[in-house]
Amino acid sequence: MPRYSTGEAPGGHSYLQKAAMNGSCKIENGGLKNGYVKNGVCPEDRILNGGLYKRPFHEAFEETPMLVAVLTYMGYGILTLFGYLRDFLRAWKIEKCHNATEREDQRDFVPLYQDFENFYTRNLYMRIRDNWNRPVCSVPGERVDIMERFTDDYNWTFKFTGRVIKGVINMGSYNYLGFAQNSGFCAEASAVVLQQYGGGVCSTRQEMGNLDKHEELEHLVAEFLGVDAAMTYGMGFATNSMNIPALAGKGCLILSDELNHASLVLGARLSGATIRIFKHNNMQSLEKLLRDAIVHGQPRTHRPWRKILILVEGIYSMEGSIVRLPEVIALKKKYKAYLYLDEAHSIGALGPNGRGVVDYFGLDPRDVDIMMGTFTKSFGGAGGYIGGSKVLIDYLRKHSHSTAYATSMSPPVAEQIITSMKCIMGADGTSLGRERVEQLAENTRYFRRRLTEMGFIIYGNSDSPVVPLMLYMPAKIGAFGREMLKRHIGVVVVGFPATPIIESRARFCVSAAHTKEMLDEALSKISEVGDLLQLKYSRHHFVPLLDRPFDETTYEETED
Ligand SMILES: Cc1ncc(COP(=O)(O)O)c(C=O)c1O
Repeated sequence: MPRYSTGEAPGGHSYLQKAAMNGSCKIENGGLKNGYVKNGVCPEDRILNGGLYKRPFHEAFEETPMLVAVLTYMGYGILTLFGYLRDFLRAWKIEKCHNATEREDQRDFVPLYQDFENFYTRNLYMRIRDNWNRPVCSVPGERVDIMERFTDDYNWTFKFTGRVIKGVINMGSYNYLGFAQNSGFCAEASAVVLQQYGGGVCSTRQEMGNLDKHEELEHLVAEFLGVDAAMTYGMGFATNSMNIPALAGKGCLILSDELNHASLVLGARLSGATIRIFKHNNMQSLEKLLRDAIVHGQPRTHRPWRKILILVEGIYSMEGSIVRLPEVIALKKKYKAYLYLDEAHSIGALGPNGRGVVDYFGLDPRDVDIMMGTFTKSFGGAGGYIGGSKVLIDYLRKHSHSTAYATSMSPPVAEQIITSMKCIMGADGTSLGRERVEQLAENTRYFRRRLTEMGFIIYGNSDSPVVPLMLYMPAKIGAFGREMLKRHIGVVVVGFPATPIIESRARFCVSAAHTKEMLDEALSKISEVGDLLQLKYSRHHFVPLLDRPFDETTYEETED
């Protein structure tokens, strides 16, 4: 079932801001959904608000076909029935139970684990567990080597065969710009730094762990983002979860997108602020919360909120959607709220200069109060950053738990980030970085277009290198992962609880390091498996116009 449909059908019109900001409008040829015009554009909006978006915004979330939804629910229903049956058999010791059981002297305790998730893990996830945590024994580059393993107890335990599946095309790592390498200038520079500084720092930034490398990195990050100052941390997850509590607290209001990453959710919860959730990328829902917050203030006392903080991501890693940043900024200015933008997936991967979603929309970075991002994806490193005004960064240096209590970033990792960032900026005197950014954009559009043309349901924005392909049915999650690996394509499949229960999917990550041949090979294998498992659910059919070179208008859409 569709949870939202904030985009348009591929090949349709681009959205305009006023429809979202001001509610309903008359629609030429579509319906109004989640405050957005589906397959239609308000003519007056085209005139009034076209200026807010400087580029077309194509985003698609095709509805789940009714039959597929019914079959998916039936699939889960059957699995659940069998789960209860098997739990019954296990309780009566008719079937062997591999699960951890409570100690005899704790029998009268309430169960330690949440019941449904435990049931789900035991009876559903266990059947397809072989698709996850596969041990990789190489660089997570465009190809990876995977250690072969087998199970003789239905996925409860695995044993290695001693063989390695070599040269698997990697469609799963977040290596957007191809900087995850063990050779080349980044790896060489990091090796030199490793010899000079060693691998660990053994102290926090506030004590003995403040290296010149960290300061160099922070100046570079601030320059890259176009902000006054930046602070870096050893872990991306902790950057969110430890800094949000330093920025908000009791009496503050956090407005968070419903699909925000767990690190943002944890940070918001730890802060003690009141949290309200808006529908994914839905500006009407966000505006309603902002308006209510201003009108009603805090519950009971009705005193004004001490602070309102909006939390959004640049690219949403499960949906492949891009935040409607121009509209979010317009709203935050209108209601005088603060904006925290997590660019974990978008930094490096979006925008003509690879500087993220702000660059992509051609906006001023100073309009975002807190620019957060990670180095784990496009930079092939580890850790996170916060960028913003000097006052903000000085404040965080004193108040963030990750500055005071966490060991600072490993020096060779800092060097990996410095060299890759300089390359993207062109500060290394080459155009290599820019070429990678352009290559990623080209690969992304090509890969997404080809999958859509084949008839798969593909979620997200046409410029997002995160490409979710909808599988829906539980049996197809495991089958897709296994069939793809048999064909030497490494993919990530995702199901509940990372997605809603019936919206299981495969999530591809396109990289600049993928050659056209690799993408074509992956595409032909995906198509083959798609036919085998009957995954081509889309009702939009794209006819490639092959007599023209590939560009935005190369496809025409027909609908059954
Ligand atoms: C949006 C978002 N924020 C934060 C993180 C955490 O970053 P890291 O993996 O670098 O710890 C992730 C991880 O994937 C993410 O997707």
